[in-house]
Amino acid sequence: MNNRNIPVIAIDGPSASGKGTVAQLVAEALGFGYLDSGALYRVVAFAAKQNNIDWGDAEAVAACANKLNIQFKNSQVYLNNTDISEEIRTEEMGKGASQVAVHAPLRAALVNLQHNFRQAPGLVADGRDMGTVIFPDAELKVFLTASTDTRAERRYKQLLGKGLPANYENILLDLRERDARDKGRASAPLLIAKDAILLETDNLTITDAVNTVLFNFKHKK
Ligand code: DC
Repeated sequence: MNNRNIPVIAIDGPSASGKGTVAQLVAEALGFGYLDSGALYRVVAFAAKQNNIDWGDAEAVAACANKLNIQFKNSQVYLNNTDISEEIRTEEMGKGASQVAVHAPLRAALVNLQHNFRQAPGLVADGRDMGTVIFPDAELKVFLTASTDTRAERRYKQLLGKGLPANYENILLDLRERDARDKGRASAPLLIAKDAILLETDNLTITDAVNTVLFNFKHKK
């Protein structure tokens, strides 16, 4: 692994746990870079769909990923110089990302890209396997979660807030399905790293969660 002495904070957890928001605020507070690894799987799902590649076809999906020109600039995601930040945030691409993410050849194709984000002065990496597979030597590992009901409610409010249609029961079913797939896959499943701290956010504000991560990071040093 490159740049081993550059600190990484790995924040893993299930969908809609709020880890994206927490990870970005932690990165901002420390002046660190931020890796949204879920966005990579979403871009692959989006590109596969554009190229009529079945999300279930492991080899074709990995080959498609190897050809992609993905860039992150100012919190926006670009595919072949086109800003696709909005397109990859849909529920459809979330589901697609979870489906392509089961394929070991695809996960292998994305490893170097993720390691390249490890740059001075440090990185906050958000995903499912940041602490277990991609950055096993991370200085701090956090597993951020909340009950399925809390996460469904957050997602529901988020969609309504954006003026998008939302059905609570469907959101709950989708989350359960996605949790089962992310936890049950053979390749880099979602699990709590042995050396991770568990942060349950049902009764925590975002500020509380951010401060807990920052406190643990400072006290690890
Ligand atoms: O964090 P997210 O909802 O944007 O992630 C979308 C999907 O991508 C998620 O359901 C599983 C997959 N994923 C993964 O397998 N490994 C990661 N490190 C990040 C996301």
